[in-house]
Amino acid sequence: MIQNPKRYTVTAALIYANGPIHIGHLAGCYIPADIYVRYLRAKGADVLFVSGTDEHGVPITIRAQKEGITPQEVVDKYYTQIRDSFAEFGISFDIYSRTSKKVHHETSQEFFKDLYDKGVFVEEVSQQYYDEKAGQFLADRYIVGTCPNCGNPNAYGDQCERCGSTLSPMELINPHSMLSGGKPVLKSTKNWYLPLDKMQPQIEEYIASHPEWKVNVAGQCQSWLKQGLQPRAMTRDLDWGIQVPLPDTEGKVLYVWFEAPIGYISATKDYFTAKKMGAAPELYTAPVPETTTPGDWEVYWKAKDTKLVHFIGKDNIVFHCIIFPATLMAEGSYILPENVPANEFMNLEGDKISTSRNWAVWLHEYLAEFPGQQDVLRYVLTTNAPETKDNEFTWKDFQTKNNSELASNLGNFVNRIITLTHKYYKGEVPVRGELFDIDRELIEALAKAPAEIAEAIENYRFREGLSLLMDISRMGNKYLADTEPWKKIKDDPERVKTILNLSAQVVANLAVLSEPFLPFTSQKIYDMLNIPILRWGQAGSVNLIPDGQVFGAAEILFSQIEDATIQAQVKKLEDSKKANELASKTVAPAKEAVTFDDFQKMDIRVATILAAEAVPKTQKLLKLTLDTGLDQRTVVSGIAEHYKPEEIIGKQVCLLANLAPRDIKGISSQGMILMAENIDGKLAFVSPTTLIINGGTVR
Ligand code: MF3
Ligand code: ZN
Repeated sequence: MIQNPKRYTVTAALIYANGPIHIGHLAGCYIPADIYVRYLRAKGADVLFVSGTDEHGVPITIRAQKEGITPQEVVDKYYTQIRDSFAEFGISFDIYSRTSKKVHHETSQEFFKDLYDKGVFVEEVSQQYYDEKAGQFLADRYIVGTCPNCGNPNAYGDQCERCGSTLSPMELINPHSMLSGGKPVLKSTKNWYLPLDKMQPQIEEYIASHPEWKVNVAGQCQSWLKQGLQPRAMTRDLDWGIQVPLPDTEGKVLYVWFEAPIGYISATKDYFTAKKMGAAPELYTAPVPETTTPGDWEVYWKAKDTKLVHFIGKDNIVFHCIIFPATLMAEGSYILPENVPANEFMNLEGDKISTSRNWAVWLHEYLAEFPGQQDVLRYVLTTNAPETKDNEFTWKDFQTKNNSELASNLGNFVNRIITLTHKYYKGEVPVRGELFDIDRELIEALAKAPAEIAEAIENYRFREGLSLLMDISRMGNKYLADTEPWKKIKDDPERVKTILNLSAQVVANLAVLSEPFLPFTSQKIYDMLNIPILRWGQAGSVNLIPDGQVFGAAEILFSQIEDATIQAQVKKLEDSKKANELASKTVAPAKEAVTFDDFQKMDIRVATILAAEAVPKTQKLLKLTLDTGLDQRTVVSGIAEHYKPEEIIGKQVCLLANLAPRDIKGISSQGMILMAENIDGKLAFVSPTTLIINGGTVR
């Protein structure tokens, strides 16, 4: 464990550029990472925060197939959308890079070549699944089957999303191709393997040297080590990816989980190159720290006093705690991850978030529907962060937390202080006088808060940190309720000056200490206080605002969210779920072929419904009287759940007129009405679109 790091390299997972991002992504990885980084910056630490999109791998090509566009078009479309969503939520990356960049292709190829030259890889020809119809090897997510560990029938060739175990295609029971759906055949091919089995002792030692890792992270590592590590192929037979940098390797690319984490390194290089060349400001948001010179990417990856921290979701644990460190160890000149504070998953309204089922709150939609309310979502996702176990987001909880915590506690306190200062002192902070016990208690509690919050953040307990922050404004509100300046202003105006001065100091502390969690709110508070941005180390003091400081206008930080808004969101989710279920249902399979003569035997006629009534004691049956052009007859039809008798009188329908009469509930039914059935089981008449004479034939 590094004791006093000189600098920090903080990474957040390189998300696949194969779809928009949702609240699960924010909660699992990006908000915690951003809180951590903003806190470090507020302390004045030298920190580099890198991320970007993962643009290779099967998830990209599968999406391209689905959308009917090229993989390149997929990644171009989603890179921009993802980058912009993060920026709008204030995720303060120094650089948001992409693995399709030249610098990344070169970096990961050099890395591979270096390991190859060092003789690290084991070259092996093996039998791999191959889809003959598609003419392609089936790596990773191109193959699905039943998980040998938990029986999930939809496990992927690389991982089971239900039990989290990592798999290889050969372990799947009943494997089938994602491309053609067919059964794959075995075909031999050469690949290069990282001998994790031989490296196990080294990896065990590394993990054992980090007893401070989160329980959920350590647990997954231990279960891997217990199973015994297996050699893992670092190349794939695919056409989308980074070409293997060896001769005669046409059609082979680097395994996405080999090259993607190297993307953190490439992104760092990208940052320094961009900086040096004075590139477009959207490439980086923070100045390069003065302790380094441009071109100095290496200190962030090789200096022993750099602390490397990877923020990820739980499905990425093994890759960041075992496989990537193993490649770094094999290379030899890099530092290893100091910590990998992975979160568990965030569920949504009682169900797993799912892109394919459209069960998600998409960030670009949230931004459109709740403009300017990024901090509300940041707040709710942090207070509910799945730090130790899966957790759940509900709209009801979102509303409650906004209304009764953000608005009534934090927003209300800040607003009262600014407003009262304007009302009593024309916005000028009064000088405080004699202190009483209640004041001293406030001062003492405030003095302790920054260290407590810092300790929570440094140990990746962000929910606790945020809760401690909210305690400060709660304390402020209580102080006001106890001291009642609005009553004292008449008979003890001197006392009110002290109360409002101290309260203003509390607000200034809130501005500093809220910044990592609620950066937009923090900025608004600074604007109202009209003071420059403070450092973390200055917090805890009651001398942050000078006497006579003139406040800006009061602004409402959080407004109430109404029931109707929340209900609309829940309805939207449910509607999209229904639409998805319908879309994913398949139609009935085709029937056996019939001859034209078979069909000619059916005497189908247009007829008009003359009368209709429910068949007593049944739910489904209507008794219809029809004019068939041939006669008037009675037909019993099972449509009572779809039509009311009075609404169908006069309607033209089609009737199978020569069906042998059948006795239904004591009524002789003379034929059958033709009905079309929808995917959800709803029935509708098959009716001519213009008036046809009764008895007209259907053929
Ligand atoms: N693309 C992976 C995912 O979305 C994460 C990759 S993180 C990496 O799960 F940086 F290691 F690549
Ligand atoms: Zn499983």
